[in-house]
Amino acid sequence: MCGIVGYIGSKPAQPLILEGLKRLEYRGYDSAGIACMDNGKITVVKKAGRVANLEAELAKTGPLKGTIGMAHTRWATHGGVTDANAHPHRDDKAGIAVIHNGIIENYSVLKTYLQDKGHVFKSDTDTEVLAMLIGELYSPSEGVDLEAAVQAALREVTGAYAICVMCEGEPDTMVVARKGAPLIVGIGAGEYVVASDASAIVAHTTQAFPLDDYNVVKITRSGFRTSTTTNANVTPKVMQLEMDLEQIELGRFEHFMQKEIHEQPKAVRDCFRGRLHKEDGKVILGGLSNFAKELVRARRVVLVGQGTALHAAMIGEYMLEDLAKVPACAEYASEFRYRNPIIEDRTVAIAVSQSGETADTLAALHEARDRGALALGVVNVVGSTIARDTDAGVYLRVGPEIGVASTKAFTGQVAVLTLISLFMARRRVMSADQCARWIEQLESIPEKIERILEQDARIRKVTERYVERDNWLFLGRGYNYPTALEGALKLKEISYIHAEGMPAAEMKHGPIALINDGMPAVFIANRGRQYDKVLSNIAEVRARGGHVIAVATEGDDDIRRHVEDVLYVPEIIEPLSPMLTVIPLQLMAYHAAVIRGHDVDKPRNLAKSVTVE
Ligand code: AGP
Ligand code: GLU
Repeated sequence: MCGIVGYIGSKPAQPLILEGLKRLEYRGYDSAGIACMDNGKITVVKKAGRVANLEAELAKTGPLKGTIGMAHTRWATHGGVTDANAHPHRDDKAGIAVIHNGIIENYSVLKTYLQDKGHVFKSDTDTEVLAMLIGELYSPSEGVDLEAAVQAALREVTGAYAICVMCEGEPDTMVVARKGAPLIVGIGAGEYVVASDASAIVAHTTQAFPLDDYNVVKITRSGFRTSTTTNANVTPKVMQLEMDLEQIELGRFEHFMQKEIHEQPKAVRDCFRGRLHKEDGKVILGGLSNFAKELVRARRVVLVGQGTALHAAMIGEYMLEDLAKVPACAEYASEFRYRNPIIEDRTVAIAVSQSGETADTLAALHEARDRGALALGVVNVVGSTIARDTDAGVYLRVGPEIGVASTKAFTGQVAVLTLISLFMARRRVMSADQCARWIEQLESIPEKIERILEQDARIRKVTERYVERDNWLFLGRGYNYPTALEGALKLKEISYIHAEGMPAAEMKHGPIALINDGMPAVFIANRGRQYDKVLSNIAEVRARGGHVIAVATEGDDDIRRHVEDVLYVPEIIEPLSPMLTVIPLQLMAYHAAVIRGHDVDKPRNLAKSVTVE
């Protein structure tokens, strides 16, 4: 789930892998650990809590020596958050050390088998089982070296893993492998940096290759060999990492979430670049050009995602039906994958995901594709698993998103789904003139977002008034019903304030019972088809003592009479409004978390990329 960094080269490993580990902190974790090898001896230091705890421990023990080492952040799945359960884990026989992200699903049978053979375990983790198994199989005298032992162990394992393995018997080798959890090998001059995402690699090299499922890479200072768990040779696809350090550093901001909220005008501009052709009245999406026919003939579009990505997908559903006149539905990938879905002929499945690694979204996409759907991805991370497992797709191009709370990826996802809707609409039902008018509206978005961001200080002031309240409602209709869900999710995940998002009309079917004196209710009340209905819902809340914060359209002075506070967004056609109305909600959540004193970029219990079910 969380972070892996490994190094083999000629520099001292510890500072380098600790620095890498810090760059991965955003992924969310609860313990950290490190192992370095010096003169054929592996030393492990590990601690529950933040990387800072690990550093404090290292200050006591003294720095670990060696030019080969690995470090880990753990997001506990098996066994509590304790020092003993933190990684690396050792075997008890062969001098093996392992770090692991993911879950070994059959760890229990394997553990019994190993205990019967006399192995004694020190932790409750599934990972320690893997370390013991590799140690059990390692037998250099019988020709089973570290690489072969790892391959053999992984053949016995079910589940998901990204692992990094060292062995005292082979002090100049590191073996890494993956299935279902990301791992990238960065290639430097006489050195290699392995990590679960590119942000820990780019300070050292931009040449890298991602591992595919069942790949095992044996790395020494003079080269590497990539194979499968059944020892077939693999030729890795080395690529250029397109990320620069500035993108993953805070610069003038205090938090990555704040930085990413403020980056949205640029993110949307980058997303649109080269794709909008107003003069010809068309949208060009290189990734989809080979599948234009299938999209014209599509009978249905199924969109899958989780969390924020699902909210964007829900807006995509409305947009595809509205613009491209194709039946569409968005649903939780986690539900879709297990509910035996019916996939008719000519169905297009779209997986929406920032990370491109979300386990549920990936599995739902496979399910749809196996049932005959054309599989498309709307993904941010280039070369991620979902991006590689689709027939085609469109990248968000919003740059790396480090904050656990997704912000610029949301606007990017909605922007790309709008582009896909226009791409399809133009070939199905929309004239060039109509499309040109849509493009004109789209082009106005970055500047309009800038205008909202200028109100940051005021949004903070409004947030201050309500920040003590522990229960909030977020309500919207039509295109802004998903925005309401997104506003509530943002507030929950970083401020730990209980918030519910729902269609404004749904409130009177039950949740209205929650409203008591002064309860904050955020209404997305921009001008649109259902504006009057939203005003009625606002009145219903206020009649029961609720305090309303409205996100309204600039120039709507009248709304002030109906609500306690107003946050204005510039006018735009309704289908595009979520890309504006969400901005004040993101800023409110951000300020609420800061005022409440929470760690905005590392919210409790959360991981940036959820690669387990
Ligand atoms: C968003 O703020 C969340 N942290 C989370 O809901 C996220 O959107 C979800 O886990 C999906 O992630 P993905 O976009 O990387 O697939
Ligand atoms: N399943 C392992 C554990 O609980 C690894 C968790 C992770 O991905 O960090 O220790």
